[in-house]
Parts: sequence; structure tokens; C-alpha cells
Amino acid sequence: MRAARIRPTCSDGTPYGFPGNVAPSSAIEIPDNVPVPQISKPGELLIQVKASTVYKDNLEWNELYPPSHATLGNDFSGIVVAVHDSEQDFRVGDHVYGMTHANRGGTWAEYAIVTTEEAVKKPDNLSWEEAAAIPGSALTADQALFRHVGLDDAAQNGQKRILITGPAGGIGTFLVQFAVLAGHHVVAASSSNERNESFLRSIGANEIVEYTTMGTLDKVDVVVDSVGSQVLADCWSVIKSDGTLLSFDACSWGYREEHKEKGISKGKEGVRALYMIAEPSRESMARITEHVAKGNIKGRVSKVVSLSDVREAYESAHSRGIGHGKIVVLI
Ligand SMILES: NC(=O)c1ccc[n+]([C@@H]2O[C@H](COP(=O)([O-])OP(=O)(O)OC[C@H]3O[C@@H](n4cnc5c(N)ncnc54)[C@H](OP(=O)(O)O)[C@@H]3O)[C@@H](O)[C@H]2O)c1
Repeated sequence: MRAARIRPTCSDGTPYGFPGNVAPSSAIEIPDNVPVPQISKPGELLIQVKASTVYKDNLEWNELYPPSHATLGNDFSGIVVAVHDSEQDFRVGDHVYGMTHANRGGTWAEYAIVTTEEAVKKPDNLSWEEAAAIPGSALTADQALFRHVGLDDAAQNGQKRILITGPAGGIGTFLVQFAVLAGHHVVAASSSNERNESFLRSIGANEIVEYTTMGTLDKVDVVVDSVGSQVLADCWSVIKSDGTLLSFDACSWGYREEHKEKGISKGKEGVRALYMIAEPSRESMARITEHVAKGNIKGRVSKVVSLSDVREAYESAHSRGIGHGKIVVLI
């Protein structure tokens, strides 16, 4: 079968690895003779992958690197083609969607093993492309807000003022929608009002600012950051001294220690500062699928590419010219 994989070593034989030797996009190769994976354990499903997505900074994820990982891609929509003998919940022919664990990937391929924790049945009102655009981004948003920050999903019990950075991005779009659906007040900060304001209003954001003017905001209870770098550093000045700050930007895993050392978080020692990695979860996917079925959220696709074009698509994922939504890989 065809699959897009990461070459394990540089041309001089040095293994790629996180953080010192992150593979460049040129290390992505697409052989057509990769063996079709085989189910070996209870809880595994073999699926024919119909669509997957591209994550900006995917090659910066430390889980990608040896010993186990080779085939890239985490989001999937597809058809179940084999189930373990003990399987009760899924059958051959089921249409499913979900996200594989970060340390396994596997869905930039014609066939992939996924687990029953990672897959749920795909609602009929979603195309393969729309379905693939949802899981990883929506799971990250759901777990950021309701598991890690611990927001109430019914804000009549206490509405919070929440600042979201990168709100027009793949994950940011779901952060805004979930927080608004739960009744919280959302301040959406992006790099350009001109490019993002009407879109952010359309998904329910209450206040819109640019990063350069975040300092003028009334203080917020919660910050959820998807951008990192200077934008994340600037968030300390906006958060209440007993607030919660969470980032999941791929390059920000060490931000708490770094910001403390550099004095960036000085005076905000009472802030609960968190970093998170999203996990596959049927419970989260069930909640997300309920929103999809009610028409509360949808999968946004900015561009569709073929498996042959994933390297270029990965390189273009940093560009801001591709519209709102995920780059989807049609397999
Ligand atoms: N920890 C986890 O579990 C986990 C899971 C999935 C993804 N991630 C990471 O989360 C981050 C956000 O993912 P995403 O899929 O939401 O990304 P995205 O849609 O590509 O981008 C999010 C926002 O980042 C800003 N941005 C885009 N290109 C940029 C550039 N060249 N320089 C600076 N900012 C730029 C944009 O904001 P503006 O419109 O304001 O410019 C964009 O809306 C990535 O780092 C991704 O790897 C982490």
C-alpha cells in the first residue's frame, strides 16, 4: 500500500529525534510498497482510510520519533475492513472517524490500524473530508477547556472570561465554538482583524482584538493559547493573578520554566500554568459527535490534497493564505 512516512535518519545516518534533530519536511517519503498493517490484539480495527489531515508543526511532536513511529497522520475517516474476533461494537463496513494516538500516527496511508477508543461512527451528514477535519482539532479543544482548564460546560454556574489565541486556526475554531456553546465570554485574539474578524464573529466570539493590543483588555480568568512564542509570553499581562493559562502549541512544552527563568511570568505566581497533549477519547468524541449531529459545529476544510502532495501541504500549513479550516489529505 502507499503511505507517507518519515525517514528515520539524516543522509549521514544520524537518527532524527526530538528536540535536537527534528526531521525537516524533506524527510517525508511516500513509498508504495508498505505492508498493510494487520490486527493483532482485541480492541483493534483495520480501516481503509478515506481522508486524513495536516497538522502544522507535526514534525515537532516528540512522540513521532523512534522507536515506534513511522507513518504520519492522526485524523482519519474511513471504512472498517477488519475487526478482531472479540469485537462487539464495530462491524466490517462501518463508516468511522477519529484520531489515532500521537505516538502511533498511521493514517497518511491507504490502510491503518485504529483502536476502538480512537474511533466512533461517522454521522451521515458529514463527507469523508468534513469528518477527517474534526477529530484531532475538536478533541484538543474539548480536552483543553473541559478536562484541563476544568471549565463548566454550563456557564450559568459561573461564566468565565476566556482569551483564545489563534482562534481562527484549526483548533482555535473549536475552542471558540465550544466555549461559546457552554455560555462563556470569549475574547478572540488573532494577528489580523482584517483577515479574521468577520469569521470570528460568525462562530460566536464576543470580543475581537489583535495580538498587538491585548495589553488594553480587561483581565481574563482563562487563557487558552494555540500559537506560542511571543503571543504566549504576552498573555501573562492579560491574565488575572489567580487565573488559568494553558498552551498546547507544539513548541511551547517548556514554557513555564523558560518564562520563570526569564522573569516573563514574574508577579503571576498564583496563575495555574498548564501544558497539555490531547489524547484519543471515545467520551470526548461522543460529545463532539452530538454537537455535529445537532448542527452546532462542522468540519471546515480549507484545501484538499492527495497523498502524493502531503510534503508540500505540510510546508504550506504555516501559510496564512489558505482560508479557515484544515488541510485535508484525500487518500
Ligand atoms: N498539544 C497537543 O495535543 C496538540 C494537538 C494538535 C495540535 N497541536 C499544536 O497546536 C498548534 C495549533 O494547531 P492548529 O492546527 O490550530 O494550527 P493552525 O490552524 O495552523 O494555526 C493556529 C493559528 O496560528 C497562527 N499562525 C499560523 N501560521 C503562523 C505562522 N507562520 N506564525 C505564527 N502564527 C501562525 C494563526 O493565527 P492568526 O490567524 O492569528 O495569524 C492560526 O490561526 C500547533 O502548534 C500544533 O502542532 C498540539
